[in-house]
Amino acid sequence: MTGGFYAIGSMYVDEPKITHAFQTGEGVSWGDHSACLFCGTEKFFRPGYQASLVSEWLPSLDGVIDKLEAGAKVADVGCGHGASTLVMAKAFPKSSFIGFDFHEPSVNRANELASDSGLANVRFDVAAAKNFPGTDYDLIAFFDCLHDMGDPVGVAAHTLEALRPDGTMMLVEPFAHDELKDNLNPIGRMFYSFSTMVCTPASISQEVGLALGAQAGEKRLSEVAAEAGFSQFRRATETPFNLVLEAKP
Ligand SMILES: C[S@@+](CC[C@H](N)C(=O)[O-])C[C@H]1O[C@@H](n2cnc3c(N)ncnc32)[C@H](O)[C@@H]1O
Repeated sequence: MTGGFYAIGSMYVDEPKITHAFQTGEGVSWGDHSACLFCGTEKFFRPGYQASLVSEWLPSLDGVIDKLEAGAKVADVGCGHGASTLVMAKAFPKSSFIGFDFHEPSVNRANELASDSGLANVRFDVAAAKNFPGTDYDLIAFFDCLHDMGDPVGVAAHTLEALRPDGTMMLVEPFAHDELKDNLNPIGRMFYSFSTMVCTPASISQEVGLALGAQAGEKRLSEVAAEAGFSQFRRATETPFNLVLEAKP
């Protein structure tokens, strides 16, 4: 939780920008926030990835662990500082991992961390989620970022084209029920605050500006995947903080 306080700090620093966004209807891009947000996000999410990603979340996906152990091609889109990418790259040395993010300072930081780690199977590039390069991926993952994007349907459609026919799109999203009234608990209230100050303005600042918000829930996210052309969608697992969703072509 301590790491999360850096991100909370950014909300106070950035309050005038959000006030302006409410007055004008304009968004606030992820990269226009105070840098506390970027390090706070990394510090807040990394422990969850270290604790659960390899031991629980990836095994909950159909057939993915076998592919990762044999040698799979993986993209981590909207990777930020690459906390999730580095955890996976360390656990699966035969697989290759590339993290994409449109925020260049975050990609630079991710490449520094990759270099410090000494891992040879991971790298990071600047790319927007709707046109990241490469095809024939076995796994394309989005950690706490699809809802931040302006055009999640367009992003999912591009992902479908970049996946192998038997590939997997993994969505890790903040835990949410489908109805607003069911999210008015301490965790949901915290997520709605972040959603108001960061996620929804970030989406509005991009093309389409769908503004899913951080409490979109499984039903709304399944509609995004279906609209993009995915034929299978299910909740693979969950924690009190996360939904782990699997979409297949
Ligand atoms: C809440 S952060 C999550 C970062 C990282 N996945 C993690 O779990 O630590 C959301 C990330 O999505 C990225 N992002 C938002 N919209 C994007 C887009 N259209 N294309 C690529 N990256 C995007 C932001 O730059 C930011 O790094």
